[in-house]
Amino acid sequence: MLFIFSNATFAQEDLIINTYNRPSTSLSGNWNYIVDPYENGYYNYRHEPFDLQATPSKSAFFTNSKQESPSELLEYDFDSMDTIAVPGDWNTQKEKLFYYEGTVWYKKSFDYVFMEKQNRLFLYFEASNYKTEVYLNGKKLGTHVGGFTPFNFEVTNLIKDTNNYLVVKVDNKRSKEGVPTLSTDWWNYGGLTRDVKLVETSPTFVQDYFIQLDNYNSNKIKGYVTLNGEDKATKNIQIYIPELNIRKNIVTNINGKATFEIISKDIKFWSTKNPYLYTVHIKTDEENITDQIGFRSIKTKGKQILLNNTPIYLKGISIHEESPITHGRGSTLEDAKTLLNWAKELGCNYVRLAHYPHNEHMVRLADKMGILVWEENPVYWTIAWDNASTYANAENQLAEVINRDKNRASVIIWSMANETPTSPSRNQFLTKLATYTRAKDPTRLISAALEQSDYNGNKFVRTINDPFADVVDILSFNQYIGWYDGLPEKCSQISWVIEQDKPVLISEFGAGAKQGFHGDKNTRWTEEFQENLYVETLKMLENIEQLQGFSPWILVDFRSPRRVLPKIQDGWNRKGLISEDGKKKKAFFVLQNFYNNKN
Ligand code: GCU
Repeated sequence: MLFIFSNATFAQEDLIINTYNRPSTSLSGNWNYIVDPYENGYYNYRHEPFDLQATPSKSAFFTNSKQESPSELLEYDFDSMDTIAVPGDWNTQKEKLFYYEGTVWYKKSFDYVFMEKQNRLFLYFEASNYKTEVYLNGKKLGTHVGGFTPFNFEVTNLIKDTNNYLVVKVDNKRSKEGVPTLSTDWWNYGGLTRDVKLVETSPTFVQDYFIQLDNYNSNKIKGYVTLNGEDKATKNIQIYIPELNIRKNIVTNINGKATFEIISKDIKFWSTKNPYLYTVHIKTDEENITDQIGFRSIKTKGKQILLNNTPIYLKGISIHEESPITHGRGSTLEDAKTLLNWAKELGCNYVRLAHYPHNEHMVRLADKMGILVWEENPVYWTIAWDNASTYANAENQLAEVINRDKNRASVIIWSMANETPTSPSRNQFLTKLATYTRAKDPTRLISAALEQSDYNGNKFVRTINDPFADVVDILSFNQYIGWYDGLPEKCSQISWVIEQDKPVLISEFGAGAKQGFHGDKNTRWTEEFQENLYVETLKMLENIEQLQGFSPWILVDFRSPRRVLPKIQDGWNRKGLISEDGKKKKAFFVLQNFYNNKN
């Protein structure tokens, strides 16, 4: 994908689908690194990028140069530097980098032997936060912006049998034009935060596919397959689903794309109670890709959300991507299992993955566990709505997560944004994102944490008068009555008037509590205060007749530089139902009891 923003061209290939199941070589492990706050390895002393030099100076870190004579002046040497683990953020791996925001250079040397001589090779990053510039053997592959979505570059003609050196510049500095922008309420973990791997493909390979149940015909599976390669036109492809005894033969058009429909009356639908996944093979004469796909329909009807045409109440919880094991950026299957098992124990059938796309383990495990998922684009708070490159960046990050997860049955909602102040340029920005999303994936629902306000000036009656409410499929909003807005007893004075004929999901409510701090329910930060907030809020929410569920804030305490109250917060947002060291607070059991008694 090639897109221009600011004054640079950023080039990366179209994303390869389902690398999760493809043969690949992980480059995880220890990489050398250089901390470079002045970007001294990228610019010369006149602040001109070494990239633009026809023959880059040896001072450019991406050349990975060595001193070749005793008199030579060279002021870096990757191989003599300390190492850092990939995947992983630098903040929690290196104490000196805990608050660091800037550039870190990574270097990995490796040999590579092709499995098949004529194959092609791609370098695939699952995520890197935030701006990433990639060089292989001194050649710039390209740049990626965005901290939570995958990207890849073809390296077929660059890779050598031995002594390859991969140099990656990662810069996590926040910026006003960024997505997210300068201000967030989470830790700005920097680095190669998810796996980096080499993906080998046949010369003409399965680049992309979308295989889904038709939302309006439960006997129909439909979609497309796209090939990449010189020999992609009029190619035979077979979609083989053994358990349904389906072998669908299709032929690609001149562009290497083939669409299809499969009719079967025997489909077992994926659901939260029975998360049935089919093994689906996409076979060409060069490849056999397998995926595990659940077939289900998701839509709204008036104020209801219908899963397989049956109304469902979303018993949810919000989750940040933070590891309960390392207390840094989460990325492993172990992290995903811990978080989603806690959600299951809470009685959830739904999770809101806030405020950005999480790692692929989360959505693939949710597929297996029968947990519905809200995935969110990090268009958070005060984005630069009038900046064209900000929009291009937001759209690209959305495109990348849709490309990665569009075959996941668990994913039912694409969230465009969180708590963004209304304005004409914000409404236009979000509407354009929603239009783009519907065109790219018409099978899922669109939402966002919208703005709410007093109803007709009555401060005891709340409503949603956000213009974006007319665009979304599901009305969602965050409300903090009892924490930021009065005390918990205020909940009993508040009612809600929602005028739109759409389902309502409350995307956040909650209160902070330091686990183990006890007192009476009016003492802020006690577990009893948080517990009472949940009791009073659940009573209030029961009066919103079109409420179809909610995802309280939040499953686990998480790091935030905004939260500095000594002995209580100490750099943690304490609204978790579970502390960062895995201890449940009293409010956990209030919500668990509510969900277990909710049919
Ligand atoms: C907001 C926001 C969250 C934040 C939470 C809080 O609603 O969406 O990202 O962490 O409130 O203040 O704890």
